[in-house]
Amino acid sequence: KSVEQGKVTWESPSNIALVKYWGKKEHQIPENPSISFTLNNCKTITTLTYTKKDNSNEFDFEVYLDGEKKDDFKPKIETFFNRVEQYLSFLKDYKFVVETQNTFPHSSGIASSASGMSALALCLMSIEKQLNSEKFSDEYFNQKASFLARLGSGSACRSIEGDLIVWGKNNIVEGSSDLFGVKYPYGVHENFKEYQDTILLVDKGEKQVSSTVGHNLMYGHPYAQNRFAQAHENLEKLKAILESGDLDKFIEIIESEALTLHAMMMTSMPYFILMKPNTLEIINKIWAFREATGLHIGFTLDAGANVHVLYPKQESEQIMEFIKSELVGYCQNEQYICDQIGFGANQI
Ligand code: PMV
Repeated sequence: KSVEQGKVTWESPSNIALVKYWGKKEHQIPENPSISFTLNNCKTITTLTYTKKDNSNEFDFEVYLDGEKKDDFKPKIETFFNRVEQYLSFLKDYKFVVETQNTFPHSSGIASSASGMSALALCLMSIEKQLNSEKFSDEYFNQKASFLARLGSGSACRSIEGDLIVWGKNNIVEGSSDLFGVKYPYGVHENFKEYQDTILLVDKGEKQVSSTVGHNLMYGHPYAQNRFAQAHENLEKLKAILESGDLDKFIEIIESEALTLHAMMMTSMPYFILMKPNTLEIINKIWAFREATGLHIGFTLDAGANVHVLYPKQESEQIMEFIKSELVGYCQNEQYICDQIGFGANQI
């Protein structure tokens, strides 16, 4: 089928890993399984306009963020196009305009790669579906979108659906794959329904270590093999916890995962400390508050200084009060984002 031109828009969320992906092999294959909460409010909205062009010699595209031309985004997208070309035969037949915006402040230190790459992958899948008039099942569509998103940014493959997504082949979650994220297939205790994530923006600066550099630090890392094995163990423990609803044990796993991720960076060569003094202040305050109240507040971290504060919906009133009065002061310009577990991307 031939299509002269068209336009498609998707919004796709960010996600936060509970068991972390850190270390990859060639072709964006993860060294260990990971599992994440899909977020609800932190999203990228991308419109892809496509116009048939005369030659099919090279990629032709422009990128805009919030209406402003962004040539510095082009290399990343060019790399992505090169990786996915063999799976999307039309890529060199069209001129593309990528218009993108985020619901969270840019340069907030929040990685937009998961939401951004998944939104772009979904737009491309919509074109693929239009060109190949054979019916795509929703399952096939989502699976291939996740597969393509993975080739843009590993963690992006966990942003297509929700609310819990597993990526990386393992013996614990049936149907898991290294090639795409799958919906967590088992029942989850109601304690985790509408689980809250308040993101404290401690440091909004440029990432000190890009994730590509970060993953590569796991090559020849002295603790790598133990870490990869531990991720399987933690996923197995988490499976039991998600079923039983044991929030104390849940917090134990996610905090240990966050600190282990940072420990890997501190013990690699070269080594990095990605936490800031205020990251530690916040962690200590969370621990003291938890000790004093018995409330189920915990944290996780990405490869940066910001803190994701995780807690069950039913405790949100007291915990939000604590966050506002005790933690927000440690954020840059007192900035934070209220989010919660979400259900994946939508076409607009
Ligand atoms: O998707 P990447 O290559 O940017 O890697 C992100 C890795 C972490 O966010 C640190 C952990 C994870 O599993 O999301």
